[in-house]
Amino acid sequence: MILFSDVTKIYDPEEGAVLDHFSEKIEDGEFVAFTGRSGIGKTTAIRLLLKEIEPTEGKIFVDETELSSIPPEKVPFYRRKIGVIFQDYRLMQDRTVYENLSVVRMICGWSAKKTEEKIMHVLSFLGIDRLHKRYPAELSGGEQQKICLARAILNDPSILLADEPTGSLDPDASGEIFRLLELIHRQGTTVVIATHDIGLLEEEMLSVRRIPFPDN
Ligand SMILES: Nc1ncnc2c1ncn2[C@@H]1O[C@H](COP(=O)(O)OP(=O)(O)O)[C@@H](O)[C@H]1O
Ligand SMILES: [Mg+2]
Repeated sequence: MILFSDVTKIYDPEEGAVLDHFSEKIEDGEFVAFTGRSGIGKTTAIRLLLKEIEPTEGKIFVDETELSSIPPEKVPFYRRKIGVIFQDYRLMQDRTVYENLSVVRMICGWSAKKTEEKIMHVLSFLGIDRLHKRYPAELSGGEQQKICLARAILNDPSILLADEPTGSLDPDASGEIFRLLELIHRQGTTVVIATHDIGLLEEEMLSVRRIPFPDN
């Protein structure tokens, strides 16, 4: 469960609050979308969940843990339960798809064998196993985003965060990414996306629960 309890975020007091006493509960296994115009605070909410930034006021709970109670040295462990993808992919350009995904080995301390099994399983689950020897520059934007999705779910996170995952993609590729997010959701993962592209969301994602961010 994810709970925002009366959360306010102020970056610059002269600019006012970005999130203003925001409360929302997201149940385990839900598929939700933070929606609203650019600049309204969707990325801020995602970064709060990643504990990259702290709320100015209020509390955030993830699976009963209040995030401000996690000491700095435990933050990497906390983040292991969260997969994340962004608009701009963030793949290492000088490494193949397989090598990009192998990074999880260091983070999770897996053997080479387990790493290979996991990578090939996730690539085939997402229908992209044929891409494992390619470099990012040899992939379309949609394919790069699928690799990011593979990387994000390799260690079976309970939560997947996707910040404008289709922001750089055409409608067809966006639809495919939404369908894969739905597939991951159906495996039991809690999926939280942030998108200003409500039109596309309405067309593609009938099952997602929208969480509109209010204009202050
Ligand atoms: N690190 C920061 N410092 C100051 N202001 C910020 C910072 N990050 C975001 N903001 C401001 O907070 C507001 C919300 O930004 P953001 O959460 O990125 O919105 P969205 O993702 O909905 O477009 C914007 O006005 C933005 O300029
Ligand atoms: Mg944003």
